[in-house]
Amino acid sequence: MRLILLGAPGSGKGTMAADLVKEYQIPHISTGDIFRLNIKNKTPLGLEADTYIQQGALVPDSVTIAMVADRLAQPDCKTGFLLDGFPRTVEQAEALKVMLSACKCKMDAVVELELSDEEIIGRLTTRRVCSSCGKTYNLDSNRPLQDGICDACGGALYQRDDDKPDTIRQRLANYNRQTMPLSDYYKNQNLLVRINNEGEVGSSLPAVLAALRSRA
Ligand code: AP5
Repeated sequence: MRLILLGAPGSGKGTMAADLVKEYQIPHISTGDIFRLNIKNKTPLGLEADTYIQQGALVPDSVTIAMVADRLAQPDCKTGFLLDGFPRTVEQAEALKVMLSACKCKMDAVVELELSDEEIIGRLTTRRVCSSCGKTYNLDSNRPLQDGICDACGGALYQRDDDKPDTIRQRLANYNRQTMPLSDYYKNQNLLVRINNEGEVGSSLPAVLAALRSRA
């Protein structure tokens, strides 16, 4: 299974991805997570990406495309993968098409998660992330058992720098301008599955799985 998760910042891509990769036993490739790991490790890629991410801007296409091409060339991606947060521009989508044709493979579906801006801002300002394993929590909808501590590994929870209200607004504006066109791009290729993700955590999963089964 080869899937793309499309959706605005905070629409629930990472949360949904965790369930989908379990269901299909495929690697979860989150460009945001790869950038954050590089920022944490202070690599040259991380230092470059950090300046863009702090401002709520996209990392340049050339950098992101090379990073994803490298990841998709790994052996665990041979039979499938889930892309979370890539592509985010038409240029990235065109580059992905070239990567797929080189391995004579194709995407199975593009799942777009829909959510109002108001709900997005609420979810992102209350999101907390484990500094050790990256697991995501929410102070309203998905609290850890112990305040500030990850249930899975005991790591300290923190708020992402780009989850401050001004940066969230910038990310949403960039999403509407640079990434929204991908919705029509994939609709025209008959790959798009649109899912409303307003319900509580896990409630949209059955609809996503049913839509993917009906396409198989
Ligand atoms: P990235 O990490 O990909 O951020 P994003 O797309 O903005 O998405 P988020 O991680 O903020 O949200 P999400 O949709 O995964 O939501 P989540 O599941 O956490 O990218 C960060 C930055 O890296 C970008 O801004 C850019 O600078 C750069 N970048 C990344 N990819 C790039 C690319 N391809 N090109 C260029 N630059 C790139 O959920 C959010 C919250 O809601 C959580 O607290 C969660 O617990 C909660 N929640 C989830 N589902 C529900 C639900 N159903 N009900 C209630 N609460 C819920």
